[in-house]
Order: sequence, then C-alpha cells, then structure tokens
Amino acid sequence: QSLKVGLIPADGIGKEVIPAARAAIEALGSDIPKLEFVDLQAGFELFARRGTALPEETVEALQECNCALFGAVSSPIKKVTGYSSPIVALRKKLDLYANVRPVVSVAANAGDKPSVDLVVVRENTECLYVKQETITSSETGREARATRLITERASRRIGKMAFEIALKRPRKQVTIIHKSNVLSVTDGLFRESVRGVSHSAEDGRYDGVRIEEQIVDSAVYRLFREPQIYDVMVAPNLYGDIISDAAAALVGSLGLVPSVNAGDNFVMGEPVHGSAPDIAGQDIANPLASIRSAALMLRHLGYGRGADRIDSAVDTVIREGQVLTPDLGGKSKTQEVVAEVLKRI
Ligand code: NAI
Ligand code: MG
Repeated sequence: QSLKVGLIPADGIGKEVIPAARAAIEALGSDIPKLEFVDLQAGFELFARRGTALPEETVEALQECNCALFGAVSSPIKKVTGYSSPIVALRKKLDLYANVRPVVSVAANAGDKPSVDLVVVRENTECLYVKQETITSSETGREARATRLITERASRRIGKMAFEIALKRPRKQVTIIHKSNVLSVTDGLFRESVRGVSHSAEDGRYDGVRIEEQIVDSAVYRLFREPQIYDVMVAPNLYGDIISDAAAALVGSLGLVPSVNAGDNFVMGEPVHGSAPDIAGQDIANPLASIRSAALMLRHLGYGRGADRIDSAVDTVIREGQVLTPDLGGKSKTQEVVAEVLKRI
C-alpha cells in the first residue's frame, strides 16, 4: 500500500511553503506508507500563462491521489474575465465540504495547557461562495446583489463533522455561529439544521456534546477577550473564513494556522493564509502553517503517530523561539526554520 499525495503549490508563498510540507512528510520514514508525490499546477500565475487557473488534468490527477496539499492562490480583487478561484472550484469539484481549522497556541513550557485551543469548522461549499452576483443599473445608480445559499443538507453534514470532532476532544463543546437575529431564514436554517444533527442521532451518539450558540459579531468580540470559552466553532462559509483569520491573530501569526478541506473520500491540506504577495520570493514566509497542514492531513487519514511527530517538532521550534521567521519576531529564513523542524522530526 502506498500513499499518493498531490502537490499544488499554486501562487506566491505557496511555492515556498508546500515543499516544506512535503519534506516534513518525507522525514517521517517508516511511520507512514511508501510515498508518491505528484506535482500539479493551478493558480493565477498559471491562468496568466495558459488561460486556465485549474486545468482539467489537475482535477483528474487529484482523483487518482489519496490526498493533496494546496498552497495558496493570488485571486485578484477585481473581476478578471475567464478567471475563477481554483481553490473554491476544487472544494466543490471534490466535494470537500468541511474546512477544518485548528487554532492552538503553543504553551510557554512543555506540559502547560495552551490558552487558545479551538477548532473552526467552516462549511466549504455554499453561503456567499456560490458566487452568484449580479449588477444592474438604474437612474439612481448601480445595484449589486449576491445570492447566499444555505441548504439543510450541507448544514447537517457540516454539523455532523463538528460533532464528530467535538467527540474526540476533552471539552466536547460545539458553538454554532450565526446571525439569526437578522438573517432568520438562511442562518436560521443553518442553526436549526446543526442542532438537528444532535437531536436526531439514533444512538444518542452526540448526547455528551454540549451545544452553545453565539451571534457572529459578539463571537468575534468574545474570541478576542476570552478565547478559552471556545472548543469547536461551526459556521457558515463566510463567517468561518473571517473567524479563523481572527483566531490566527490570537496565536501570533496566520503563518501558524493549518487547515484541511475534507470530504467523505478525500482530504486536502492547506495553510489558512493566502499567497502573501508582500513577502513572496524573499524566503521569509513562515512554513509552519503548511507543515502543520501536512500533519493534519495525515491525522485525517489515520496516521496519527506521524502527525504527532510533525506537530511536536513544530511546537518545540516555536517554544524554543531561536529559529523563527519575522512574522513571529524572529530573524530566520524559511529554509532555516524548515531545517530546524526536519531535525526535530
Ligand atoms: P494573506 O493571507 O496572503 O496575507 C495576509 C498578511 O499575513 C500579509 O501581511 C502576509 O505577509 C502575512 N502572512 C500570510 N501568510 C504568512 C506566512 N506564511 N508567513 C508570514 N506572513 C504571512 O492575505 P491577503 O494579503 O489578504 O491576500 C493575498 C492573496 O492571497 C490574495 O490574492 C488572496 O485572494 C489570496 N488568498 C488566497 C487564499 C487561498 O488560496 N486559500 C486564502 C486567502 C487569501
Ligand atoms: Mg481566508
């Protein structure tokens, strides 16, 4: 049995941090099956060259892989004719309906508990990301509209994912993030559907999981003031995106926070950060989010021991604080941090 891993660095610092994730997996040796890496292309730079951001051959090759690692894409802020984000498309094509983003602070001393230890479970296929936008003109000026899709099916399956994750955690608490006070129809359906998963579980499977809920704006406020109240936060697509970047600030840098895009048959690791054009090409991007994404991907595939070895190597490097990139106040290069992590693995 071998493990076939698709690698899609895509744009900007994605090209600097995905090789680091690959190296971390390779360093594990016997704790995982024989590895096969498949280099694949996607992204805005590819679009500029070839007129496609996500070639069909990339999608087909991924379907032959067991899992994948994705870097980041530089999606333009303005509409570019013919371009649409390959990561948004891939999540849909491979039905990677859950974006799981653990945000954990490294304790000052080994043995101490981290003060932030939460998981954002973000719905990954709908909400405003269905990208159905229209614009019309009238005498009073232009008018733009966007469709926000929330389905019971997608809300239930993301709810189930959140409860399953909570079951494996000591606190076993799920907080539903919503804005039902204003968007009572869409967010109301989300909230109700997630709750329904717990109530309708036949074997009382989720009886031990406590359900809380919080309106999204005050959730961000409380996240900054008392992050320790959260365990698993489950949210529609856009809120989940925003909350997880906010939570990343609490642990020091976006360059630390990993994620996986998970479906029932495939998992794709992806750092939460973007392509960071402001620091791309300087060998100063923090590779730890990408390396942790590789660990998270392995954990989802059932290779917990390998994942633990990567995570504890990363934690040690952060705790020691000697070899860190500038986003964490250090002076080291990306490559130096990678070498330090590989040494610990
Ligand atoms: P960003 O996440 O790329 O950067 C935000 C800030 O965090 C920047 O100052 C950047 O230097 C810093 N940062 C991010 N990752 C870092 C790392 N590993 N090490 C050190 N510093 C790091 O978000 P931004 O600037 O809003 O977006 C840039 C591009 O990335 C845009 O084109 C956007 O569309 C794209 N993007 C892509 C994502 C994806 O592929 N899933 C997710 C988010 C943004
Ligand atoms: Mg984001």
